[in-house]
Amino acid sequence: MTTHERYEQLCKKVNFHNYRYHVLDAPLISDAEYDKLMAELKRIEAEHPEWVTPDSPSQRVGASPAEKFEKVRHPAPILSLANAFGAGEARAWFERISKIDDRVEKAKFVVEPKIDGLSVVLHYRAGVFVQGATRGDGEIGEDITANLRTIRAIPLRIPVESNEKPATSDALKDLPLFGSTRQLAASNQRSSIAQPPAYLVVRGEAFLNVKDFEELNKRLEENGEKTYLNPRNTAAGSLRQLDPAITASRPLTLLVYQLIAWEDSPPQPPNHPTPQLPNHPTSRPTSQWELLETLQSLGFPITNAARRFDDIQSAIAYTESWASRRDELPYETDGMVIKIDDLRLADELGIVGKDPRGAIAFKFPAREVTTRLQEIRVNVGRTGVLTPYAVLEPVEIGGVIVERATLHNFDYIAEKDIRPGDRVLVKRAGEVIPYVIGPVMDLRTGAEKPYTPPAACPDCGQPVEHFEGEVAWYCLNAACPAQLVRNVEHFVSKGAMDITGLGIKIVEQLIAADLVKDVADLYTLKKEDLLKLEGFADKKTDNLLKGIRASAHQPLNRLITALGIRGVGEVVAADLSRAFPALDWLAKASADDLQRIEGIGPNIAQAIVDWFARPRNQAVSGKLRAAGVWPIGAGEPGSRGEGALAGMTIVVTGTLAGFSRDEVKAYIESHAGKLTDSVSKNTSYLLLGENPGSKLEKAKALGVKVIGEEELRKMCV
Ligand code: IVH
Repeated sequence: MTTHERYEQLCKKVNFHNYRYHVLDAPLISDAEYDKLMAELKRIEAEHPEWVTPDSPSQRVGASPAEKFEKVRHPAPILSLANAFGAGEARAWFERISKIDDRVEKAKFVVEPKIDGLSVVLHYRAGVFVQGATRGDGEIGEDITANLRTIRAIPLRIPVESNEKPATSDALKDLPLFGSTRQLAASNQRSSIAQPPAYLVVRGEAFLNVKDFEELNKRLEENGEKTYLNPRNTAAGSLRQLDPAITASRPLTLLVYQLIAWEDSPPQPPNHPTPQLPNHPTSRPTSQWELLETLQSLGFPITNAARRFDDIQSAIAYTESWASRRDELPYETDGMVIKIDDLRLADELGIVGKDPRGAIAFKFPAREVTTRLQEIRVNVGRTGVLTPYAVLEPVEIGGVIVERATLHNFDYIAEKDIRPGDRVLVKRAGEVIPYVIGPVMDLRTGAEKPYTPPAACPDCGQPVEHFEGEVAWYCLNAACPAQLVRNVEHFVSKGAMDITGLGIKIVEQLIAADLVKDVADLYTLKKEDLLKLEGFADKKTDNLLKGIRASAHQPLNRLITALGIRGVGEVVAADLSRAFPALDWLAKASADDLQRIEGIGPNIAQAIVDWFARPRNQAVSGKLRAAGVWPIGAGEPGSRGEGALAGMTIVVTGTLAGFSRDEVKAYIESHAGKLTDSVSKNTSYLLLGENPGSKLEKAKALGVKVIGEEELRKMCV
């Protein structure tokens, strides 16, 4: 195979595995294997920059920031939808359009979730993603191509081809059947690969899944950055960034649902008859259902909750069934869209204003109510961030009693002029934490006083501080009891030291009894002291102490994560543990040293330096060392990054005595090795546990060396 052929093959492979992961949610290879393909692709591109095209998988991120967005004229108007509130209004819509055209009486309908995101328009020429725009005023939008390219669910080249054998996808497993419905076939069962037309423009919704939104906000809050109000607002804000690197850091995804333009290539001259290839161009879909199928087989992400119905009653019944189940969808919806399936009939029905007659948005009841804001309280987080929240007069929103709601940050309270005693509008959507939208000004009595943020920490009374460029206020007293509870809670959590049997209740008990004044005190707890606490019997105490002792052997990356340094999560901690041999080496590093590590910017570097500069933290790290909680990392003094397992790939089979799967992964990675899922001739070692599986046979057949846990540990000291 020539290098160019290999390059083409890698592009296809990376695109395909990207599709499996981001569109089907059903990866076939591990992250490490994906990274390896990408690394090889980038290596070839570095040698042959002339081969790199904008649709190369390496080009998703990296475009430089724009000055402003250019305008784009849409090839056809990007329409909106009329609303129907309840089944009565949906039936009235059906009757109205039946009168206009009697073919409606026998029409089929497609029902899809109405995703609460940002409408985007994607252009493909000869199967290559060439432009993406916002909706704008429906005629002219803004060119946000570079930002859209960072969304991995958007195919850069269609059809997404595969030379891998198909597997069954969990992501496409059917939702509960409902009435007489038709469902889309799983795309990996496609019999022939659809071919795109010469020019294709599709419309879709860019959005964030609720879970990803919550995680993003948590991360922003911990870093003292401004949080977003809701997933919709995040999607809009992230796509409007002039710097695509910021968009790339937001977990955006997309689903497509509408055809804006479809132009086949001009007919061939008569002396060049079009050859009848098996993958001939797909013809323009004539129904919404066919459209979804076609888009799916080209490799676009489409909803798996769409259904087609033979009559309006069943379509309405299906729509209504989602009102109580809307939280089962991973994203926010404010209703369902009912569409006439026949695209030609829908088109001929025409438009009223900006709303096509052929479809209607069936809106679910709003999840916004007003209630009284009794009090504004302040929570102190693990990193000392002060977060205000609302104590509300209890109120029901969509079947749930809400008593607390977030107020985001002190700037938000000031911007919206939210005052204790106000009647406020509160929104609860899906699984998102309820939030206060703002006060109902017309209901002010005049007695409400503007809110002033606390000048001192509500828990320890120390003055609060503010950093340039951040919205958050901090309590920087490391001995603050509220922070201590959160700190210990974080220290013992699953991704950190993972101490089983040490839940929040016990953490609070230990701190209240003065047995724990910092995280290092956990390792010097005495059985007789614990037995004096309420609810501590012999067995519980033994188990707790055993769990704590076992955690002392966690690898360095986990200990670094556990310290709870601002901005240092599991990924950064793993990078640090590869670069430094032990905690004292990390403590000695300067901000410049730290920034030499890939992925560590000035803010994180400074946060690390600041953390170790505090005498209290120095004392904690000294106590940890004295207690034997002092893992040795992969980094060698003077030869950072060169771990004992550098360049090695290890596969595990069977049950290991001394490690869980997560632990062995962390251990191998902390020594700069890679853990992969399947044995190949490139595997360095097979790590053998009890009751091994077929990997053992495969390793033997391929001549891969088999080692035990002891040997692994020896290799790492
Ligand atoms: S169809 C002519 N389908 O809802 C068809 N819209 O006001 C117009 N939306 O701005 C759109 N999910 O951004 C359609 N499955 C879906 C949708 C959807 C979300 C948004 C779209 C539009 C708004 C309707």
